[in-house]
Amino acid sequence: MIIKILALLFLTYIIVSFYIKNRKCHPKEPKSIGIALPLIGHLYKLGKQPHRGLLQLVKENGPVFKMWFGDHYSIIITDPKLVHEILVRQFHIFTNKNRNTILELFSSGYNNIVHGRDQDWKELRTVVASAFSNRKIRNISDLIDNEVNSLLVELSNLSDSGQVFNPQMTCKIFSLNIIFRYVYSIQLEYGERAQDPRTLEIINQTDRLMKLMTRPWRFMKGISWVHFQYAKYFANPIELVKQEVQKIVYEHLDTIDPDHPRDLLDHLITTIGVDTDKNLTRIIHCGIDFILAGTETTSSTMEWIIVYLINYPEYQEKLYQEIVDATGSPDSLGQERHRKDTPLFNSFVKEVMRMNWTVPLTVGRECSEDVMIGDYFIPKGAQTYQFPYALMHSSEYWDEPEIFKPDRFINNQHSDIFMPFGLGPRICVGMSLATSEIFALVTNLILKFKLYSSNGKGEKVDTYESIIYAFD
Ligand code: HEM
Repeated sequence: MIIKILALLFLTYIIVSFYIKNRKCHPKEPKSIGIALPLIGHLYKLGKQPHRGLLQLVKENGPVFKMWFGDHYSIIITDPKLVHEILVRQFHIFTNKNRNTILELFSSGYNNIVHGRDQDWKELRTVVASAFSNRKIRNISDLIDNEVNSLLVELSNLSDSGQVFNPQMTCKIFSLNIIFRYVYSIQLEYGERAQDPRTLEIINQTDRLMKLMTRPWRFMKGISWVHFQYAKYFANPIELVKQEVQKIVYEHLDTIDPDHPRDLLDHLITTIGVDTDKNLTRIIHCGIDFILAGTETTSSTMEWIIVYLINYPEYQEKLYQEIVDATGSPDSLGQERHRKDTPLFNSFVKEVMRMNWTVPLTVGRECSEDVMIGDYFIPKGAQTYQFPYALMHSSEYWDEPEIFKPDRFINNQHSDIFMPFGLGPRICVGMSLATSEIFALVTNLILKFKLYSSNGKGEKVDTYESIIYAFD
């Protein structure tokens, strides 16, 4: 009997879900990309590499269309004017990011900046934005230079002994070290951190977390609930990072002098206050945000730049010359103040970011009321996804988009369509720090070493996952 009832319920769910997903809810809603299935919606159209699958869908269906990500009604938008409309002009309607159980678990109920909502987000953002302003980041150039020096010592030792180096770990530890010093005043030399078991575990768990967050089942409500319970009780990758940050926050609370804040954490504690459990949770989750949002993105961008330097040795030569001219000598340190004199380097970085978008599908925005965006109707509750990856690879906006051409950015910044850090009030808060880190690390690698593939000089690196590098 129970089995019969369950079967009937399941059948009803399939029929209702199929009907809801395939009906037209408004004459002006964007066109659908075909039959949406119960549970998975259109996920079956994405294939193994969702960003490639989505790019194909954009080519077939144009810049605006509707699709069901599992059980979520979603609108994909790659038209720059409409992206601007959502992220800037109609921001008040699209302030919040999409909700799902996994994000809720990882942020203890959206108590962080990355997924924070409405007034809660606004408050945190205001406090944090001032700490990451261009001026503040210029003031910490000594800190970044110190990190570069510490790293160069390690790499020189490796290079002298003829060993290969793996830039993945190098870039991760470099950016993690900067966050730990700036946010928490915790300083470890590059070599010490590379050996530190807690750091290695944080990196490991962060990788797991990123993978988990891109799994398609987070879009399927039933499965995502089961997954939520599993993650909560058995395998929550954020737990370790949270314990680490919690420990640091309590140590800061014991030693803080409110009149003399030592770092960004002290600044958060004094401005937000720790009078309620909620505020304490928000401070801890902000701290976690800097580790998660601030290291993986920056380090993978640096890794990609290294790949392109190896694959385009002629550019490595040209950039070396430009950086030597800017610094005055190959023995000087490439520093933030030289950035204005390195137009080719700056263009090279942009072109790498265009070719390999670090955040291919930005975290979607939730539509808080029925609204027309351009000629399209977007219903309340829909999630919109700006898909800059497609915009970056569109021949409508770029001459030969699949070809690597750094020079395209020299006389034209393409700022109306090139937005690797997002746009509007929720633009990446760490943009200034990220660009400073990238400049400092990569210019000095170019100045001090010649980078080439461990397969041999002149060999191209074509498989991102398996690359390791050598240099002299
Ligand atoms: C190359 C490196 C980076 C890239 C490409 C990048 C990209 C992005 C993007 C696309 C967003 C989403 C914007 C949106 O929703 O419209 C974002 C948000 C964010 N990023 Fe970054 N980011 C980088 C580095 C950093 C660093 C170094 C930090 C901090 C220390 C950081 C902290 C954040 C935070 C806290 C948010 C959420 C902002 C909010 O919702 O108000 N990011 N980033």
